[in-house]
Amino acid sequence: MPPPSRLQSIKIVVVGAGSVGVTTAYALLLSGLAAEIVLIDIDKSRALGEVTDMSHAAHYAQARVRVGEYEDCAGATAVIVTAGVNQKPGQTRLDLIKTNYKVFKSIIPQVAHHAPDTILVIATNPVDVLTHAAHRLSGFPVERVIGSGTAMDTTRFRHELSKHFGVNPRNVHAVIVGEHGDSQLPVWSLASIAGMRLRDYAAQKGIPYDEQEMEACSRRTKDAAYEIIQRKGKTNYGVASVLVSILEPIITNGDALVTVSRVGSYAGVDDVALSMPCKLNRSGAHQDVPLLLDEKEKEALRKSAESIKAVLDALEE
Ligand code: 2OP
Repeated sequence: MPPPSRLQSIKIVVVGAGSVGVTTAYALLLSGLAAEIVLIDIDKSRALGEVTDMSHAAHYAQARVRVGEYEDCAGATAVIVTAGVNQKPGQTRLDLIKTNYKVFKSIIPQVAHHAPDTILVIATNPVDVLTHAAHRLSGFPVERVIGSGTAMDTTRFRHELSKHFGVNPRNVHAVIVGEHGDSQLPVWSLASIAGMRLRDYAAQKGIPYDEQEMEACSRRTKDAAYEIIQRKGKTNYGVASVLVSILEPIITNGDALVTVSRVGSYAGVDDVALSMPCKLNRSGAHQDVPLLLDEKEKEALRKSAESIKAVLDALEE
């Protein structure tokens, strides 16, 4: 059976056949959002093994999945970049910059050459610094270079809060902004459930609410990747699902609001990439959702922006 007509022209390229790349390709395959998925990796044999395995699942998802070259980026709706090394136990995301920047210098110009109109979705860490690097190396406008950023942390945060308040994570409106890393910040001042501030919701439902417990939710959010990496050496399922949730509004022109990383000016720091809520659609990520942060949050955002900028500046020296 051919894929549904609405999606017949949707080709998505995934660069990097490591665990994030292949889990993303697989999640995308099962989502039914793309008609064609192309996997590119320097290790072609490994990529072929992954694709052959996945092509047996493609039977159920009615999409084509294959190994490709950079030329195959031509006509892609989006190119997801997952290539590079990942954190070892005890490493921060920022520790990966030197190695992964080199990887980006070899990948991004080739993608941009073959797919000048595509949208780049960056997942490699440190994702904010590399989103900025990809913007510069591709020459693409800022709205077409999107880092997965704190979409992952926001998902984890909602998961933590949903457990505490006993509601579905979809009913928790709370975001993590700033760096996808140690300087990220939860926006407590705007967090709500069913239109109510968390404290009011808790009072109405007789749920305990104290600041220490809330802080523990944001600490678990920040530390989640460290803990998972300590146990299994990597993270892949969460980030793959987040990448598909970023692709969905791009493919469907859905205008969804997602906290993704994008180059811009934040809290007085210019020309840096970090996450704030953006509207995602077919033309990319648009920053038309200003968050009314309180003074403490503005200061934390400035610190987050400065810590990313410091890594960026060191890269340019
Ligand atoms: C994650 O947060 C390691 O950035 C990766 O899952």
